[in-house]
Amino acid sequence: MTTYEPAIHFKDVRYSIDGNPIIGPITGSFPAGQITTLVGPSGAGKTTVLKLCNGLLSPDAGEILVEGRPIGSLEPTALRRKVGMALQDAPMVNGSVYDNLALPLRLRKKELSETDAVSWLEDVGLPADYLHKKATELSGGQRQKVSIARTLVNHSDILLMDEITSALDRGSKREIESLITRINEKYGTTIIWITHNLEQAISIGDFTWVLVAGELVETGESRILEKPADERVRRFVKGELQ
Ligand SMILES: Nc1ncnc2c1ncn2[C@@H]1O[C@H](COP(=O)(O)OP(=O)(O)OP(=O)(O)O)[C@@H](O)[C@H]1O
Ligand SMILES: [Mg+2]
Repeated sequence: MTTYEPAIHFKDVRYSIDGNPIIGPITGSFPAGQITTLVGPSGAGKTTVLKLCNGLLSPDAGEILVEGRPIGSLEPTALRRKVGMALQDAPMVNGSVYDNLALPLRLRKKELSETDAVSWLEDVGLPADYLHKKATELSGGQRQKVSIARTLVNHSDILLMDEITSALDRGSKREIESLITRINEKYGTTIIWITHNLEQAISIGDFTWVLVAGELVETGESRILEKPADERVRRFVKGELQ
């Protein structure tokens, strides 16, 4: 079996809120250059795991390594650039699509040329004339594409995605799925994708993490979901654990 370097590695990671354990201890890896889907019942801690991956939250105990380096040793803005995030509602700042694409560079006092902006738009399948549209007037699927293009502007090595297709119709969902697969293949980007759709978790994922009540109960190639070894995962897959 091929072994992959971990893009992100959790070692005995624990996280709690007000003394209530939310996560862990979790030990596991997100393989570099691969798509790992993250599934589990509501409240299992999926979003919390993503926020630990980009430093929005810090563990109480254990260690998180990003490309082999302790997450705390990376400069926060460099970390946010390296590890991009897209959210379900693809929040946009007021202004044009261009303003939204240029935002990551503006934060670093750099400019984005219109030519580059158009090429990022084309990369996510939006026509050039969308550049000067108001971001708030885009459809959900188009907004999600802009939000993904914004992570490309940063040349993120790792992309975290939290239910990014849940609010989309079937056509837009398919488009976003193939866009992410294409980004993964073209740039070798590591993808960590939370989804509550198990079919999507299997079809999109190379690997899968199954979280139940803050624990990583099963992990491996995504087809583990077809024949789970763990009883809790069996119940989750059958729809008995929501
Ligand atoms: N700010 C907070 N204060 C208190 N509890 C919180 C907070 N954020 C999350 N939690 C709790 O932590 C647990 C994990 O939440 P998390 O959002 O990571 O779950 P999830 O797997 O992403 O769920 P969902 O599928 O519903 O998005 C839940 O029990 C949640 O209630
Ligand atoms: Mg969540």
